[in-house]
Amino acid sequence: MAKTKKIYICSECNYESINWLGRCPNCQSWNSFTEETRIPETAATDKGINSWLEDTAGRSEAVELNQAAGVIESRFAPLKDFTDFNRVLGGGLVKGSLTLLGGEPGIGKSTLLLQLCRSVAAARILYVCGEESPAQIKLRADRLGIKRSGIYLYPEVNFHKICQMAQKLQADLLIVDSIQTVYMPESSGNLGAVSQIKNAAAGFLRLCKSKGITGILVGHVTKEGQIAGPLVLEHMVDTVLMFEGDANHDLRMLRATKNRFGTVNELAVFQMTNTGLQEIQNPSHMLLANRPEGVSGSAVTAQLEGVRPLLLEVQALLNNANIGQAMRMTQGFDRNRLNMLLALLSKQFSLNLLNYDAFINVIGGLRIIEPACDLAVAAAILSSYYDMPLPNNSLFLGELGLTGELRSVNNIERRLNEAKGLGINQVFLPSADKSALSKSSLSTSLNLYFLDQLKQLTDICW
Ligand code: TYD
Ligand code: MG
Repeated sequence: MAKTKKIYICSECNYESINWLGRCPNCQSWNSFTEETRIPETAATDKGINSWLEDTAGRSEAVELNQAAGVIESRFAPLKDFTDFNRVLGGGLVKGSLTLLGGEPGIGKSTLLLQLCRSVAAARILYVCGEESPAQIKLRADRLGIKRSGIYLYPEVNFHKICQMAQKLQADLLIVDSIQTVYMPESSGNLGAVSQIKNAAAGFLRLCKSKGITGILVGHVTKEGQIAGPLVLEHMVDTVLMFEGDANHDLRMLRATKNRFGTVNELAVFQMTNTGLQEIQNPSHMLLANRPEGVSGSAVTAQLEGVRPLLLEVQALLNNANIGQAMRMTQGFDRNRLNMLLALLSKQFSLNLLNYDAFINVIGGLRIIEPACDLAVAAAILSSYYDMPLPNNSLFLGELGLTGELRSVNNIERRLNEAKGLGINQVFLPSADKSALSKSSLSTSLNLYFLDQLKQLTDICW
């Protein structure tokens, strides 16, 4: 019999090493290596996971394209009470697809899935609860007012038993909460090990595709926001949904970061209430509702989330650093981008920002991902530095280049329409967008300040 071999695998990026390492040379994470036993190829083919996969695959046949097409896009009816959730999914949950729902522990993944169970038009749902007991889930379901029949709770961690039960019940929908609790006896590593997660996910993929079961796997994310376990998990599934939010806030955001059946970056915003998650139809309004006027360090921008613009408030705080190196901290904004903007502002306005602590916070636990919001971040920084509030009811849009030039923003009209509806009456934006607005009524109903260079901002604002 071939000898088994010990290897060490990085739980963040799946990098393999024959020795234990304190820091992963690939993704630079500390203490991420776990020991696993590698079953040699020959042994694996005899008895292990590979042979299992081959057995369950059945005899695969080549399918003619026109015949296959109809199968792929069959969807469950759109979810009731969840119009934006449907949009994130690209128009409803696709039958026979496999979805990964990622999010930090306690953010509300299990709550969201139970509410999905209530709305989804699947006759039989198998809810595998590896983390909680059926009694706990029943308590939560009562709280959420879920009364429908056809939801089967199954507290099991063994992969094969889950597969058998899904087939025995003829489940239309299989929810695995969470993939980190599933155990595959023939796979190496302990419960939660990288190889366990990877092989279990491959197994569920095989099950869903061959039996036409719709699968949803819950995956916990690491503190860096990656789904714990190998990245390959994200490549395997059809759709990756990320459920995010701020622990101190009751707002929750659901986003598709990968979707084989729709566009990505569509956003659904929920509020966690004592009777579960409720979709918020006008999130911009809610995000700006408590915004203080007339204070320094606050600016509003409009970020496009899929097709919908969302108004965000970004706050900056600059403070003279006491000793040592100045601190740079961000919530919802890329720290490298902040460093770039600070360098740009230092150069453009001859400031010495090197000695200043700089903090950026995007309100509501949201994230700025578009460079189109650069101008708002720069304006908030300047406002905090000079301790002068920006003009009331203003919107800031524009990507900043390294020479201080403002670059155009896509879908400008859509963003301005959303802003106008929420009481914004003046907008600072790139000159390059002038032509896009020339025929629009917005150019008369809003005060538009077109800028070529970042330097012009302070002259107009103050
Ligand atoms: P949960 O769905 O268990 O999170 P996850 O599965 O992502 O770990 O949600 C847990 C949190 O949600 C918990 O702190 C309580 C809160 N919650 C409410 O505020 N209202 C509710 O109706 C429910 C069911 C949960
Ligand atoms: Mg949970």
